[in-house]
Amino acid sequence: MWINDYHVFSDLAPFGGYKQSGFGRELGLWGLEEYTQVKHVHVGSEGHPALRPGNRLLVSYPHVTAFRWAGPTRLTIGAGRAAAVADEVLRLGAKHVLLVSDPGIEKTGLVARVKDALGSLHCASFIDVPQDSSLDTVDAATLAAREAGADGVVSVGGGSVIDTAKAVAVCLGAGGKAVDHIGTYMLRGWPVPHVVLPTTAGTGSEVTNAAVIHHVELGRKVYIVDDRLIPAAAILDPMLTVGLPRGLTASTGMDALTHAIEAVVSRTANPISDGLALQAISMIVQHLPECIKQPDNLEARVQMQLASTMAAMAFSVAGVGLVHGMSHALGARQGVPHGTANGILLPHVMRFNAEVAAAKLAQVARALGVHDSLEQTELATGAAEAVSALVAGIGHPTRLSDVKVDAEDLEACAGLALTDPATLTNPRSVLDAQEVLAVYRAAL
Ligand SMILES: [Fe+2]
Repeated sequence: MWINDYHVFSDLAPFGGYKQSGFGRELGLWGLEEYTQVKHVHVGSEGHPALRPGNRLLVSYPHVTAFRWAGPTRLTIGAGRAAAVADEVLRLGAKHVLLVSDPGIEKTGLVARVKDALGSLHCASFIDVPQDSSLDTVDAATLAAREAGADGVVSVGGGSVIDTAKAVAVCLGAGGKAVDHIGTYMLRGWPVPHVVLPTTAGTGSEVTNAAVIHHVELGRKVYIVDDRLIPAAAILDPMLTVGLPRGLTASTGMDALTHAIEAVVSRTANPISDGLALQAISMIVQHLPECIKQPDNLEARVQMQLASTMAAMAFSVAGVGLVHGMSHALGARQGVPHGTANGILLPHVMRFNAEVAAAKLAQVARALGVHDSLEQTELATGAAEAVSALVAGIGHPTRLSDVKVDAEDLEACAGLALTDPATLTNPRSVLDAQEVLAVYRAAL
């Protein structure tokens, strides 16, 4: 483009046309680039062919035990331990932190308590995180943090709040906006320190390497995945969860159970994740009904927090599966809360996987307390029935129609679930949207 003059021919002034006037550029580096090609060389460092991600996820390869375990979160556990938040922030070297939460939690007074505990370390608050946090939410919170000169983040809340705070920590540490960091292991810098105080017992986001953010324009969830996203510290204080409404206790508890069961049956499960996830299943089936019956039972609450954290440690290495693929789609297209969709879909997907994952589902059945059958396939079905009974027993919705899901939209949801990264590690390969649609319809 020329303004007020004709162009000059120079190595600093690339020249070329658009549309009917030509293509490409001549002169300078830009002209030389017309004669080059990009060559991408990918070298697999996995060793055994069964360990290569493509083989592992897409082909039925014999199982080989080899994996990397990343669990850097320092956990502080127990009633009243939220008071230790300032120690954790100082230990990580931060001096001015942004407090991230949502309006519902603010109303309970928890945000004020954590702010008091932080004292002069608190420099700003961002309380406007909605249920399905978007890229714009992250950018607004980042702006607030930058204006206040924050060098750390403390989050008080459930999955949306924690995931927003993870993305804010990335933007503060690595620069840019939320959209710049979407991707898997693409971070170009370290996030600032992040301390998490979960107020639900579900997502387990306090120990995972992912932030799931709503991309409004695309109408789907996008991911930032990197081990550097794993928060350096988390405080599991049951006093932060006693005020959680019954419905949220049930749905976030079902999210935790889904993490544990999907981690056990996942095609990338390993012995450490199995140990954590099977123990988490036993703890959830015992303590979730207690939390519903006696919401202020601190011992039951802390056991649920531990179980959800253990389930998350398991799935962050082992992966999840089709339940998550399907509920991400329902969340993005129809706004169905994540844990609620998981609780409804979990027994149906367990039946879908029953044959392929019979041996693993039999272990799940035993962890759930189902011992009355010796046949593996019967145990697998028994596990699904035990989950259905738990869902109904805690007063959680059992059908998608209970949460006003639009049946007409399920075909589009099935297409989205098929391409969701979570679906890749499902034990039974999911290759056809019609199969997914059939599972949705069974849950309708
Ligand atoms: Fe989940």
